[in-house]
This record gives sequence, structure tokens and C-alpha cells, in this order.
Amino acid sequence: MSHTIQMKQKHLLLRAAFQETIERPPVWVMRQAGRYLPEYRAIRSQAKSFLNLCYTPELAAEVSCQPWELIGVDAIIMFSDILTPLVGLGLDLSFDAGPVFLNPIRTLSDVQALSHFDPEKHTDFVGKTLDLIQKRVQQAVPILGFAGAPFTLACYAISGKKITSFAQIKRLLHEDKPMMQALMEKLTDLTIRYLNYQIACQVDMIQLFDTWAGVLSPEDYKEFVFPYVEKIFASLDKKGEVPYAYYIRGGEHLRDYMATSGANIIALDWMSDLTENIKQYGDKVAIQGNFDPDLLFCEPHTIQKLVEQKLTSLPKKTGFIFNLGHGIDKEVPPEHLRSLVNTIKAFRF
Ligand code: CP3
Repeated sequence: MSHTIQMKQKHLLLRAAFQETIERPPVWVMRQAGRYLPEYRAIRSQAKSFLNLCYTPELAAEVSCQPWELIGVDAIIMFSDILTPLVGLGLDLSFDAGPVFLNPIRTLSDVQALSHFDPEKHTDFVGKTLDLIQKRVQQAVPILGFAGAPFTLACYAISGKKITSFAQIKRLLHEDKPMMQALMEKLTDLTIRYLNYQIACQVDMIQLFDTWAGVLSPEDYKEFVFPYVEKIFASLDKKGEVPYAYYIRGGEHLRDYMATSGANIIALDWMSDLTENIKQYGDKVAIQGNFDPDLLFCEPHTIQKLVEQKLTSLPKKTGFIFNLGHGIDKEVPPEHLRSLVNTIKAFRF
């Protein structure tokens, strides 16, 4: 093992991910770099648009570091979006309240017309952002990379706008298998290249976001989604050194698949019973989650009480990473998140 690996293995997050001894669970929060922070909003208006912020490494690195510097979370997640790599395929992405693709994918020939994704060329801004974050934090805190999983990316690529119904994509899964298969293969290949690029850029952990896979029945998930997810985790570099997390919103009925997908960590939303999941899956994988994001609107003393209840009910002393069950809301007062983080940091097993 090289010296750098030994240094990085000391981070609490990585020790929890690999089920080693920890004094308390580490904490980070989905969407931690975001609009609830006035400091984020200031940089966001300097950047003019959300996409410009993603594409400007100096600013993206700045907002990536804010939650660590201002709130004290135990990890930095690089600032970008799951949809930015799709621009490399030739999709015309913009954000207008939510993501918009001007040229959504509907047919097999739309899929065949997509360009070849080259991470160094199409997402060099991500490599530069990671480099700037690393220079700034000097290994004091682990850095997470991420990607969207193929099904979740396909939902956006097909819808072309804010998703209000999954009927269209479910119909295509069953009625246009050649098109869906070609699209899922293309997105799987993109995801593997994109994550391995981030791993080559020295991220310490990665998370695969399959936010929408929970809308599928177990049969459809097994046939149309799981093989691609398995392929992704099997194809990632630095196994056993960089942990892989897999998140599904509303994925309780898919938990056996999640736990056998090849991920080291499965990330739960707040609708799942944390203790039961740890008891059932905690020997196989680490568990991440699952505080209800709405409860961050409670007063800090209530948040403290709720977090302490969760921590004292844990059935195991390692293999747990504290997070929210989904992204933090933009109206949450920052001091409420600080109360959550401070409570976890004061806790000892
Ligand atoms: O702090 C972090 O978590 C890192 C950055 C990050 C963003 N999006 C920034 C963002 C990450 C990891 C994501 C992931 C993402 N993006 C997911 C998967 C996780 C999840 O939330 O389920 C999805 C589905 C998206 C797609 C997406 N991006 C949507 C639907 C929206 C609009 C909704 C909204 O919250 O406004 C975005 C925009 C977006 N991505 C924002 C941020 C901070 C808000 C835009 C802004 O600042 O103007």
C-alpha cells in the first residue's frame, strides 16, 4: 500500500465505508453545496447561471468547499450535476426551474445519432474542479465524485423536462426494447468512463445516484436496470480502495438488489427503517442515510434530539454514514444543518 493510500484510509468516512473501527459516524449531506447557503447564492449569482457555475472550475471548487468550511461536514462532494456529462453525447441541456433538454431522445435513431463520450474532452471542467479542491484541502477531508445511474439519466433524456410521470419511459421499456437497450448501454458506457475518470482524478469515494429507479416494480428493475448497475460497479477502478455508494429514492422493495449490486455502501431514504436495514444488510454493506430532510425545518434543539435518537438506536458500531434521505431543501436555515452536524460530531459510540 502506498503512503497516500494509508493517509487517506484514515479518514472517518472511508473507515466507516469499509466497516473499520470508528469513534462516531461520519456525516455529509446530499445537495450540501446549494441554495440554502447564502454564500452559495452569492457565487451562483456571480456565475450568472447554474450551468456556468458547473463549467467554471474556480467557482465550482469554491462552492464544493463551502459546506466543509462553513458547516463542518466530514466530506466534500464535488459540485456539478448528474446531467452535465450528457452534453458530451450531443444533448442540449439547460436549467429553467429544472433541467431541460431541447432535443430529448425518443427513437432508436436518436440514440444512434448520439456522440461518443470522452470524459477528458467533455468533462474536463470536472477534472479541473477536483484538482482545485484537492489543492485547497490538502487531504484534510475526503472528496466524493458522483454520477447519475443509466435509468435515472434515461428518465431525463427521454422526458426532456421536469419529470411528472413515468408512464412514457415504462411504456418504452416494454414496447421499444431495441431503443431502450441501446440507450441504457450508451448511458452505462458513459457512466463507467465518467466515474473512472473521476477515480483517476483521485476522488476518495463515489456515489451512483439512481434517484428514480424506485418507481419501477421489482420485476422491471431486475430486467431493465439491475444488469447495467452491476456492470458499472464491476467495471470501476480501485476496488477496495475507493468505496462505491448506490442511492435509490424509495428503494425499499429493491434492497436485495442494491446490497448485491457491487456497491460497498447502500444509501437509504427516510421512508426505510434504518435499524432493520442495518440488521439485515449491515454485514454485507455499509449503510448511508437516512434523516428525513423535512425535519431540518424543526428547531435546532428538536433536530439534536432526533439525531441523538437515531444514533443511539444504531445496532452496530461501524458501517454507518450519516446523511439525509434526499437532498437538503433550499429554505433550510444553515444553523439547523449545523445543529445536525454538531450533534453527530459530539456523539461517541
Ligand atoms: O451538493 C451536492 O450534492 C453536489 C452537487 C449536486 C447537484 N445535483 C447540484 C445541483 C448533485 C450530486 C446533484 C445530483 C442530482 N441532480 C440528482 C441526483 C440526486 C437527487 O437529488 O435525487 C438529480 C436527480 C439531479 C437533477 C437536477 N439538478 C434537478 C432535478 C435539478 C432541479 C431541481 C432543483 O433542486 O432546483 C437540478 C439543479 C441543481 N443541481 C441545483 C444544485 C445545487 C439547483 C440549481 C441552482 O443552484 O440554481
